This record gives sequence, C-alpha cells and structure tokens, in this order.
Amino acid sequence: MSQSADLLINDQSYPLPILTGTEQEQAVDISQLRKLSKFITFDDGYGNTGSCESSVTFIDGDKGILRYRGYDIAELAEKSTFLETCYLLIYGNLPTATELSSLEARVAQFTELPPEVLAALKALPANTHPMAVLSCGLQALGGAFPDLSSNNKQQDLDNFDKSSSLIISAIRSIAAARYRFSRGEEFSGSEKSGNYCEDFLSMMFSSKDSNGIPEAVSKALDVIFLLHADHEQNCSTSTCRMIASGGANPFASVAGATSALWGPLHGGANMAVIKMLNEIHQSGDDGSKFIQSAKEGKSRLMGFGHRVYRNYDPRAKILKSACDQALDALGVDSPILDIARNLESTALEDEYFIQRKLYPNVDFYSGIILQAMGFPTDTFTVLFAIGRAPGWLAHWKEIASNGKRIHRPRQIYQGETLRSYTEIASR
Ligand code: ACO
Repeated sequence: MSQSADLLINDQSYPLPILTGTEQEQAVDISQLRKLSKFITFDDGYGNTGSCESSVTFIDGDKGILRYRGYDIAELAEKSTFLETCYLLIYGNLPTATELSSLEARVAQFTELPPEVLAALKALPANTHPMAVLSCGLQALGGAFPDLSSNNKQQDLDNFDKSSSLIISAIRSIAAARYRFSRGEEFSGSEKSGNYCEDFLSMMFSSKDSNGIPEAVSKALDVIFLLHADHEQNCSTSTCRMIASGGANPFASVAGATSALWGPLHGGANMAVIKMLNEIHQSGDDGSKFIQSAKEGKSRLMGFGHRVYRNYDPRAKILKSACDQALDALGVDSPILDIARNLESTALEDEYFIQRKLYPNVDFYSGIILQAMGFPTDTFTVLFAIGRAPGWLAHWKEIASNGKRIHRPRQIYQGETLRSYTEIASR
C-alpha cells in the first residue's frame, strides 16, 4: 500500500507521497509541493534533503555502515582492489576476469599525458596549489579528447568506457607530473608494472637509482584509494552531479568536483589533520591541551566528526590498522601517530565528543600513512581526488543515463526589496 504524509498549511491539507528506499529509508516527496501550494521547503545546507535516488552507495551513519553497490566496505577493503572497485562502482556489478583485464588494459593505455596537457600544467604559476593544477589538468585533458567531451549527452555516454578509463588513469599522471615539475624534474608516465598504485608511486618517486616500491606500500595506497572511492551525496559528488545535470561532459564534471573537494571541511581535512598533529607535537603537548581548546570552541579537532556518521566511520577503523601495518613495513616511527592515538582515546571518553557523537573520520589516519610514504602534505587532497574519481564518474553516468532535469534548488530571498537607481553623483 502506498503511503503518504499530510502537510497542513493554513488549514489547507496537502497529501505528499512517501518514498521508500531498498534499505527502508523513507522520505516525504515534496517535488510537487510548490505547484500545489506555492510553498517551498527550506533546509539550509541540505542536511535533511534527499537530492536524488541513487543506486551507487548506501550509508547508514547511525550504524556506521558503508556499502558500494551493496558490498560492505570492510569486505571490499579485504578482498577487492581499487581498480576492481572502480568497475563495481561504475558498472554496478563486480567484473568477470575478462571485464577486469579489459578495464586494466584501458587504464594502462592512458598513463602518458598528451603533450598539450603537459604544456598546460607547466604553464600554470609555480605556486598554484596541486588541487587547482589537478582541476585545470582535467579540463585540459577533456580539451585534448574533444570526441569524449562533447557535452552531447548521448555521445559522451557512448564514449564513457573510454573517457572513464582515461580519467581514472590520467588523474594520477596529472598529480605525478605536477609533483615532478614542482621539483624541476621531468615526468614520464610510462607504464611499468600494470599495477595501478605501483605505477603511480613509480611516476611520483622513482629515480634511476631507486630500488622499487615495497609491495606493502602500494597495497596500503590501494586500500586508501578504495576506501575513498565513493561516499554518496557529499559536497564534491553533489557538485559533480549538479554539473552533470546541466549536460556537461565527464571531464568538466570531475574537474568541478575536484574544486569542491579542495576545502578544509571536505577533502582538505587530511592536510589539516597533519598540520594539527605537527603543531601539537611542536608545542610539546600530548594532545590533552588541544582537546580542551577544541571543547572550548577555540580550535577544531580535525579528522573528527562527520555530517552523516554519528558513529565510528567504518573507513577510519580500517585505516587505523592499515596505518599500523604500513608504518611497520616502512620502518617509520611516527611521534604524531602516538599523538593521534592519544587524541582519539581521550576524545572517545570525553563527554563533549560523546554527546555530539564525534568520532574519527576517514581523514584522521590517512594523512599519517601518506606522510610516511613520502607524499608532501599539499598532495594529500589530490590523493583523495584520485580515489574519489570512480565515484564521481559513477554518479556522472547515473545522471547522464537517468537524470530527468537540471538540478536547480530554490532559495528564500532575504535581501533588499525594490529600490530605485540613484545616479552616481548623488550617492
Ligand atoms: N571538533 C570539535 N567540535 C566539533 C567538531 C570537531 N571536529 N566537529 C563538530 N564539532 C561540534 C560543533 O562545534 C558543534 O558543537 P555545538 O553543537 O556545541 O555548536 C557540534 O559538534 C555539531 O557540529 P557541526 O559543525 O554542526 O557538524 P556538521 O555536521 O555541520 O559538520 C564536519 C561536520 C564539517 C565534518 C565537522 O565535524 C568538522 O568540521 N570536522 C572537522 C573537519 C573534518 O574532519 N572534515 C572531514 C569530514 S570527512 C570528509 O569530508 C572526507
């Protein structure tokens, strides 16, 4: 039996349908409300608004559940790989062996960047932040493949196997090229092993005399990418969907999502965590003074709290143990890891954090691993973007295939009412 809710406004009743998801989440469908009543709904920051129906990722923030296409994140982190998970997110099912090797071959084909993209990266001012470089590089990449970035929805969908593999591959090449150029080095994107993370680490760090990357390191990076691969309607993914809803191609949509990810309250938090841990370390604090200042609202415990999770972020749990393993494999003794552990255990027993349901999120431990691997802090958010690219692409495909209309929220105007123009001499 279909359910409905009644909304009573000024004695007039409006029956509103109730939507039920496959995990029994429920929503009041207000899409016809304005037409019926002239009222819109107001939800500053969209905290209580479902913007779409989606089949990519399911999160239950109260229970700490995260599933890609129905598969639990912990099972994927243990058994799958980043590239297999890319396939799962984009195509909806785990690949057969043939489908996976075909994706791997497509991705391996695009490790080198077109010369005009390399020239565009080199032309940017030296101080351009790596996230800005990444966003520009993705737009330039679309420009180098005009057939794949036509803004003709059907054509872009027909070419999506190619464009999505190209973006998944080249996003790491753009990141590595920018890093090399910033150090005055040349970039070579040539494929070495066919393993996504090994090739990326080699593009970033290998020199003529380097001895190769330890397997434990590339495996840890693979898990980090997999854990970041999608997170339903977060700020950057919603931005990607918003851009896609206007009919823009995958390159433009992913470039826009990259900009949205940049901020410190979103993807930039992994950088902010390391900055915070270093500052605590340099000040001689073991974390207790910092916790006190966070409780007094003078600072924010970065890597803690989440709009959706009101429980332990399941990704943080996996990263916490990956962090121990990676640091062991690298033989790194990290004083900031001790501070992080101390902050976590203190916060988890503190009434302020308990009451507000603040737990470590995915960024709390990821920065420590990335730093130990040798990534400069300003590339952390770029690594998040590399991991998140398949999620953005899956959402682009969902919108391009099923989206019915351009996304366009409304507002409550709180500005000046009608005024008459005053000539400049009279102001
Ligand atoms: N440290 C201290 N207090 C916090 C923190 C924190 N990290 N996060 C939230 N609070 C407090 C707020 O001050 C507020 O307290 P109040 O009720 O006394 O005013 C309460 O908890 C609710 O916080 P909001 O800001 O309303 O929560 P919101 O859902 O809007 O924000 C966010 C979520 C942005 C993630 C926030 O927790 C935060 O800033 N965390 C630190 C940054 C971070 O780690 N971001 C990464 C998020 S995960 C990701 O994007 C991959």
